[in-house]
Amino acid sequence: MQSNQSSGANVSPLVPAYDSILELAPYQTGKPVEELTREYGVSDVVKLASNENPIGCSPQVTLAITEQLGQLARYPDGNGYYLKQALADFNSVDVEQITLGNGSNDLLDILARGFVSCDDAIVYSEYAFVVYSMLAKIQGATGVEVPAQRFGHDLKAMSKAVTDNPNTKIVFIANPNNPTGTQLGHKELREFVASVPSSVLVVLDEAYIEYSPESNNRALLNEFDNVVIVRTFSKAYGLAGLRVGYALSSIPVAALLNRIRQPFNVSRVALAAAAAALNDQDFIEKVRLTNNEQMRWLEKQFDALGLGFIKSHANFIMVEIEVEMEAITAASIHQALLEQGVIVRPLAAYGLPNWLRITVGLAEDNLRLIDTLHSILTED
Ligand SMILES: Cc1ncc(COP(=O)(O)O)c(C=O)c1O
Repeated sequence: MQSNQSSGANVSPLVPAYDSILELAPYQTGKPVEELTREYGVSDVVKLASNENPIGCSPQVTLAITEQLGQLARYPDGNGYYLKQALADFNSVDVEQITLGNGSNDLLDILARGFVSCDDAIVYSEYAFVVYSMLAKIQGATGVEVPAQRFGHDLKAMSKAVTDNPNTKIVFIANPNNPTGTQLGHKELREFVASVPSSVLVVLDEAYIEYSPESNNRALLNEFDNVVIVRTFSKAYGLAGLRVGYALSSIPVAALLNRIRQPFNVSRVALAAAAAALNDQDFIEKVRLTNNEQMRWLEKQFDALGLGFIKSHANFIMVEIEVEMEAITAASIHQALLEQGVIVRPLAAYGLPNWLRITVGLAEDNLRLIDTLHSILTED
């Protein structure tokens, strides 16, 4: 600390808790529509970069939000009573097994803060959601990245990584995974959980579960106290802008998480909106059907364009831009799409420089994407 304070002019006396914080690259969000309009002057922008729901949210949400507008001077219910009741019924769990978060990212952060110190390790897969490795760095902990198998989690290798590192406190598993869209089977996941010590938290991040209801592993909670399931209202429920997520866990784990979270981490408007959204499962059914239909259509178009892709169980798809294509790279296609008002996600930061992640949009968005891609790929 002393030496940092007194040396050269470029050395800041403000030193973060851990050196690993200096290695952090800020989380790269999808380019906002407004920014594209500002930078390139394109007005009719299609955003397929953040796995948001292009349909929006249930009409019941608007009503629920309107009812809250007269009460904004009042703090929200810090315990989220009504939303938790609704979630407990919906998931057949005890209310005391639930922790609410300001988006599911908040819960991932609370889990890391609650369980991981700088002497510990967090295990996650290569090509898994980037926030897991960021949390290891923030806590000054060891991040153990296990090589992926066919773009998905290699659970056998992950189990070995946990056993090899007795300081492991958390394993993060995204199912379906972002950005690859891969899905794990119940049997292999159960075997994985049974194979790790009960002192290791296995966090199943089910942000995209509504698109793939068969991936639901809630039953594991009945068997294992060290399983935590994290879900969000940001994706299929269409409430990304409000920030609401929740964790299901054993009661002792939830008691701990609820002690760590900020007292009012979910706003009054968000609590009401999420409860209304949960209540409208017909909307979720419609979202799922539209997504499936559009996903099949996109797959056909990628085939016709000669572009490889990974079969996805979520609302996005990873498309390969083969390096052999002369002068055309994933980065150049991303840029050309941007200039024509279509925002997709480049994946170089995930170690996948030849791939783009594309959120499934509405029929007209997808048509625009494919037409634009076609013109870029066939340009002289
Ligand atoms: C796998 C996964 N987990 C968690 C999140 C965080 O979402 P939110 O904080 O909006 O709930 C995302 C967002 O993209 C995600 O893809």
